[in-house]
Amino acid sequence: MSSRATIIDTDPGIDDAVAILAALASPEFDVLGITTVAGNIGIATTTRNAGRILALVGRGDVPVIPGAAGPLSRKGFDVADIHGYDGLGGVGFPEPATPPRSAHAANWLADTLKARPAGSVDILALGPLTNIAQLLVDEPESAHRVGRIIAMGGAIREPGNIGPRSEFNMAADPEAAEAVLAAGLPLTLIPLDVTRKVRADRAYVEGLRGAGTAASRASADLIAAYFQTTTGGESRPLHDPCVMLMALAPRLFGCEDMALSVDCGETRDAGSLEPASDARRPFSVALTVDGGGALSLLAARLTQR
Ligand code: BDR
Ligand code: CA
Repeated sequence: MSSRATIIDTDPGIDDAVAILAALASPEFDVLGITTVAGNIGIATTTRNAGRILALVGRGDVPVIPGAAGPLSRKGFDVADIHGYDGLGGVGFPEPATPPRSAHAANWLADTLKARPAGSVDILALGPLTNIAQLLVDEPESAHRVGRIIAMGGAIREPGNIGPRSEFNMAADPEAAEAVLAAGLPLTLIPLDVTRKVRADRAYVEGLRGAGTAASRASADLIAAYFQTTTGGESRPLHDPCVMLMALAPRLFGCEDMALSVDCGETRDAGSLEPASDARRPFSVALTVDGGGALSLLAARLTQR
């Protein structure tokens, strides 16, 4: 099977960690590197966490490249502490086997996209879009060499999880999100409308734990920690793994093309999505998902030996 050159841009993060473990277990992805961004927790911790996740599954060969320590142009974002003091719910991971690169994520993204044929490298974006926006500022021609970007973010017909209509990844850096949505890149957006329908309950967690791979045991612990740090309900949404699932099995999702812009104001709804008033290029937005199929495929990858 030929694998697709893929960069993961991420702020791990409990659900980021599950998504990364699923990608590393999937032969469809040739993971060229993990670029990190501040979001769920600060940049030093998201960068360390990326290295810890790689170390758990013996993939210290995958480079980790630190990126933005805060939003493009507004002051840093205070987050609810749902990912725990260490960003990974206190779950035991080994220390990184390899130190992070000294390059900045946006520079490394540009160099990597230029070094390979145009259209041959995809980006799976699991956090605030600051690094990709910085790439667009620094080297727009390199940014347009990307094959495809699949990004978790936004809420279309669903309430937000930060403000009434705003979702965390967009709210954490609205100007970056707006730059990416306006750029005419080959983008697929994965909003809360679908990620809230891919939910792990306690039986799912125990199934992962029982399967006994390093990735499935860690994922079970991570989702169990997510139960500890959030309240209400018998299940938890697996936001970021939906990005990997879209890349692996687009048949699981129903998408529509939409032209959207981002509210860059100062209210609680900063970061919310609205129909674009200019003539920008539409992009694909996932609005429906086969939740059971998505959970089965995720479990299959995490439990694979
Ligand atoms: C997004 O916000 C973060 O907390 C999660 O990791 C996910 O990327 C969901 O709104
Ligand atoms: Ca994330």
